[in-house]
Amino acid sequence: MFNTIIRKNYDEVSSEAFKIMKEVVTGKKNAVLGLATGSSPVGMYKKMIADHNSNGTSYKDCLTFNLDEYVGLPKSHDQSYYTFMHENLFSGIDVPEENIHIPDGSAADEKQACIDYETELKKHTVDIQILGIGSDGHIAFNEPGCPFASETHLMDLTEQTRKDNARFFDGDIDEVPTKAITQGLASIMRASKIVLIATGANKAEAVYNMIHGPKTESCPASILQDHKDVTVILDEAAASKL
Ligand code: GLP
Repeated sequence: MFNTIIRKNYDEVSSEAFKIMKEVVTGKKNAVLGLATGSSPVGMYKKMIADHNSNGTSYKDCLTFNLDEYVGLPKSHDQSYYTFMHENLFSGIDVPEENIHIPDGSAADEKQACIDYETELKKHTVDIQILGIGSDGHIAFNEPGCPFASETHLMDLTEQTRKDNARFFDGDIDEVPTKAITQGLASIMRASKIVLIATGANKAEAVYNMIHGPKTESCPASILQDHKDVTVILDEAAASKL
């Protein structure tokens, strides 16, 4: 069952997501936060930083687990998700560096890095998982066709996803990595609460398929139909096909 919230614009969407995040963080001292990259959560991250600065909301006892990371980019690359998270969130709040978990996209043994990440993740229960959605219905980097039972694994990125993400690489698709390490769909489903943020008309079809389409591995996000606590926060454009 989806709890769907539709708001006029990105700022209002971000405020709704932030409200839920703050409830979780202030409601539990050692909250475990599942975090996402992409442009969708950035507005919420800005509000978390502003609230931390003005109200002192603290993340010092939180643990964070990110969803995914490109394979082959060093952490220091300006488009690695490690850099993205530090620039857009971690540098502005007080979460200790040792509490932050992001898959290691530059590990020598990529398969082992997946196993290690899933092992660490399984020691905890994610209290709130933030998600965006790809225009092809992917969540994290679980592309269409990815098994619902998947745990952290290596994924070949589709042409569509690399095209969508080329805007972060000066528009040059050849610069976008071809592989990523991603939490699997089963890993994501273990979170107690999920908040999915989607804005813009290019997400409308994926949002429709997630909520009303058949539950099928060709729309990875449709697995969320089976989760007990999913809030989907949309602007009017992303909700236009519902
Ligand atoms: C990437 C990320 C996803 C994200 C998606 C949508 O592929 N791996 O986690 O949800 O992009 O990104 P955006 O929010 O920028 O539209």
